[in-house]
Amino acid sequence: MMRLQVNGEERVIGDDVTPDTPLLWVLRDNLGLVGAKYGCGIGSCGACTVHVDGKAVRSCTLPVSQVAGKPVTTIEGLARDGKLHPLQVAWIENDVPQCGYCQAGQIMNAAAMLKDKPKPTDADIRGAMTGNICRCGCYVRIHSAILESV
Ligand code: FES
Ligand code: FES
Repeated sequence: MMRLQVNGEERVIGDDVTPDTPLLWVLRDNLGLVGAKYGCGIGSCGACTVHVDGKAVRSCTLPVSQVAGKPVTTIEGLARDGKLHPLQVAWIENDVPQCGYCQAGQIMNAAAMLKDKPKPTDADIRGAMTGNICRCGCYVRIHSAILESV
């Protein structure tokens, strides 16, 4: 059995989950948190991005055993006390998503960047977001929404 801290709650994972199971599968299949998506499975697209200890991580390649006892936040836990994160507000106002598949990962990656750089420059945003792929090509709206959120 493993105990995880997910979105502020303790969640117990049963023995059917081996320690090397990727965090993404535990979130989706065991905990029903399906916001983070499977894209590439090799850490290259960012669709599965969540926070561990406040840092953006790619949950498709992270064994669940490595997050035991550490706070995990998914897109489902980004809003606090019923209030959307400023990025989520800006995402809605800028009508950012097209198909939506990559968007949870985009927002979680941006949220982690803003913790380090609350007033990011264009270059900061490009540097932080380059590895998050959007096959619909929503990059301009993603960039604008991040700038508007701060
Ligand atoms: S699914 Fe994890 S980086 Fe692509
Ligand atoms: S909105 Fe479709 S992949 Fe990004």
